[in-house]
Amino acid sequence: MKQVHISTFGCQMNDRDSELMAQILAEHDYQRTDRPEEADLILINTCSIRQKAEEKAYSLLGRLKSLKATRPDLIIGLGGCVAQQEGEKLLERIPHLDLVFGTRWISRLPGLVKTVENEGCRLSQTQMEPAVAYQPSSSTFRSSPIKASVTIMQGCNNYCAYCVVPYVRGPEVSRPSREILQEVQTLVAQGVKEVLLLGQNVNSFGRPGEEGRGFVQLLERLEEVKGLERIRFTTSHPKDLSPGLTRCFGRLSKLCEHIHLPFQAGSDQVLKSMNRRYTRDLYLERIASLRDQCPGIAITADALVGFPGETPADFGQTLELIQSVRFDDLFSFKYSDRRPARASHFPDKIPEAEKSRRLSELQGIQKKITLERNQALEGSIQTLLMEGPSKKSDRQWMGRTRTNKIVNLLLSDIKIGTILSVKIDKGYAHSFQGTMIPPLQ
Ligand code: SAH
Ligand code: SF4
Ligand code: F3S
Repeated sequence: MKQVHISTFGCQMNDRDSELMAQILAEHDYQRTDRPEEADLILINTCSIRQKAEEKAYSLLGRLKSLKATRPDLIIGLGGCVAQQEGEKLLERIPHLDLVFGTRWISRLPGLVKTVENEGCRLSQTQMEPAVAYQPSSSTFRSSPIKASVTIMQGCNNYCAYCVVPYVRGPEVSRPSREILQEVQTLVAQGVKEVLLLGQNVNSFGRPGEEGRGFVQLLERLEEVKGLERIRFTTSHPKDLSPGLTRCFGRLSKLCEHIHLPFQAGSDQVLKSMNRRYTRDLYLERIASLRDQCPGIAITADALVGFPGETPADFGQTLELIQSVRFDDLFSFKYSDRRPARASHFPDKIPEAEKSRRLSELQGIQKKITLERNQALEGSIQTLLMEGPSKKSDRQWMGRTRTNKIVNLLLSDIKIGTILSVKIDKGYAHSFQGTMIPPLQ
């Protein structure tokens, strides 16, 4: 058997794509390895959402130059969003790179690798044209035996002014609901208890002409899958979060009480210039309805600071929004230009030092809120799905609450995938310490 080493940058969709690459290559006699020096094939699955993410991929590629020099038969391939954007140019710039494959070429990866191998050529394939051929998870390789990610749609049509995704992932295409349902049933038969439905904007899921096949209907059908315990999804767009979907949190028992709902900015002026197509008030209304339907729901979000033209007053509105919503957690970023996204041509760029200052002010505020919220859960009873031994110590196990919080607890022997009730003893910045109910003797 040959060995493949895969490095992944970027979002959960990229994580799933890398898993898919490993699954598809496993059917062509490749086994995944953690050790690049033992690999026959090295793949880098790249992200271009921010300048920094792109640089990380190039720096890893740079470090592989010496390995390739000692092993000329090694095949090095670059996939994902940077590959999609740069295409053939990468082969010209990087002589030790053999293969560039775009975001819609994953299912055809074995064929590409074979061509490079047999013909000793260098290859770049980045067309968006061909239909997306998905490979259901027939192979057993998965990062977790009890949790699985299922990509339900590709691409994005929203064209937020800062974002490169519509250019590198192409137009939005939803998978047929029937196919998703089958994939989830297969996963559950293999022991999976929790599925995470993935897409850049899952709220707009649905295929034109497929009556009654929207996102709510998909959730309803998944709720009926016997043996499935938990359903999660990401990412949601505030403009498409319908009242019907909001109600699902109160009425579907398997749908976990957590939503990731990026707001990006707190000022209407900035939201407009970002082309987000909602207002601050609409966002706050949607949060209120979510909490109304499902009082304990955990809410996380993404925020961007230093978008071109963002004034100190605009930024102040972002801080106010954070203080009024009190998110469970927040992922915050400094805006960076991403060509060809429109904002890269906008005037009034914010200096780097000011962006850093705003980011650290925002993060300081959120850090305090997260800790306070975590401490407020001390003494509460939570249901955990046990994921495995804790990274912290061998005597500890790690499980996740339905609200997606990590809890560590002392356990002697337990099966991965067990569902337990625990009491939360202590809330920290990123995790919790708990005790099993009834306590261990
Ligand atoms: N589809 C999701 C987000 C995908 S990208 C959504 O609609 O919200 C993940 C996050 O990266 C975004 O939410 C945004 O906060 C951040 N991001 C996107 N483009 C960026 C850029 N040019 N600079 C900095 N951060 C960016
Ligand atoms: Fe990017 Fe906006 Fe699409 Fe999210 S919705 S992927 S931020 S263009
Ligand atoms: Fe990055 Fe591409 Fe995901 S740009 S965030 S890996 S869709």
